[in-house]
Amino acid sequence: MSTTTDIEQALRGVVDPELGGDIVELGMVKGIELTNGIATIRVALTIAACPMRSQIDGDVRRKVAALPGVDDVVVEMGEMTADERSAVMSKARFRARENAEPTMIDPVTRVVAVSSGKGGVGKSSVSVNLALGLTAQGFTVGLLDADIWGFSIPRMLGVGEKRLGANTDGKIVPLEAQGLKLVSTGLLVDDEDKALMWRGLMLSKALEQFLTDVAWGHIDYLVVDMPPGTGDIQMALARLLPQAEMVVVTTPQKTAQKVAARVADMARRSFMPVIGVIENMAGFTTPSGEHFKLFGEGGGQELADELGVPLIASIPLDPYVVEGGDAGAPVATTHPESPAGMAVLAGARRLTELLPPAEDETCTARIDRLLDALPATK
Ligand SMILES: Nc1ncnc2c1ncn2[C@@H]1O[C@H](COP(=O)(O)OP(=O)(O)O)[C@@H](O)[C@H]1O
Ligand SMILES: [Mg+2]
Repeated sequence: MSTTTDIEQALRGVVDPELGGDIVELGMVKGIELTNGIATIRVALTIAACPMRSQIDGDVRRKVAALPGVDDVVVEMGEMTADERSAVMSKARFRARENAEPTMIDPVTRVVAVSSGKGGVGKSSVSVNLALGLTAQGFTVGLLDADIWGFSIPRMLGVGEKRLGANTDGKIVPLEAQGLKLVSTGLLVDDEDKALMWRGLMLSKALEQFLTDVAWGHIDYLVVDMPPGTGDIQMALARLLPQAEMVVVTTPQKTAQKVAARVADMARRSFMPVIGVIENMAGFTTPSGEHFKLFGEGGGQELADELGVPLIASIPLDPYVVEGGDAGAPVATTHPESPAGMAVLAGARRLTELLPPAEDETCTARIDRLLDALPATK
């Protein structure tokens, strides 16, 4: 005869392939009962429409039915509460961190992945200007152009013609561009051979190289301009930099629900929490003061509400953004007083509140602090 403890033990063999842990450890098993040979297992999924649902259901049945004294298995599937979900996410992130491959990024570096549910919303413009806004606050900032083939950052920073070099250890040295440490495929591919070599690489491999073969040095923040879509690169980034958090860029258009579902799914699959939303291409004000809401209104706030995160900034449509992007003169530094400039700089400040730079908690620093805290001896 089996006990509920035996059943729990058997359930440890059921792994959520996406979360990378067993369902007991992840806290997904909410109840186990065994009455007259009927085992009833309650499982809470991260979301009800979890694509792994039937696989988990099947695995639970098989594992439990194999136990002596179990004649039948009833699986009741439920959904986690928001709190339970975030607990599971942090557990999964912890595991990912433990298994993370070594990168050249300091584990205390804050990593902000600028993503979106759809393309052309101004991700690259936002990445560049946010990064500059962080530099303006005195932080050392890396900017990684993870849009491997759709790179646009070098041009936006006016360094499209420059190329990356290597140090004596054979590591790539980021390009110093307007105070940022920049790495982009656009700074690598100068001849056809190299271009072919890079083209042969999987995108996620290219990202991996940017994180493992680049001498980033100390950086407080790493801003990553993500490619459009929700695929490989997101997963690779989360695997390589488990500390990564996501900022979602959206337009004011009210398509939030669909976008929200996509973004939430992306966050769930990559274990990257969303820390906030940035609305871009919000209303346009003419020099005479007329206001036009070209792309609708309220979409950013709606998406933020939907995801339960703050709206970090709402950046208006501003010709300075386009002009600056084409001329290598980003609005954050060239027109900080313009509506878009002010919005993006305020956004960068808000970001540092939400994601304060990690304290330098070396052992020595901690011992110093503890000693300071001791009452003074006479
Ligand atoms: N706030 C804005 N005001 C005016 N034009 C913008 C704004 N944000 C982005 N753009 C323009 O929109 C286009 C797409 O922006 P980009 O940053 O390349 O988007 P993505 O990286 O999402 O594809 C660019 O021409 C850019 O200059
Ligand atoms: Mg882009």
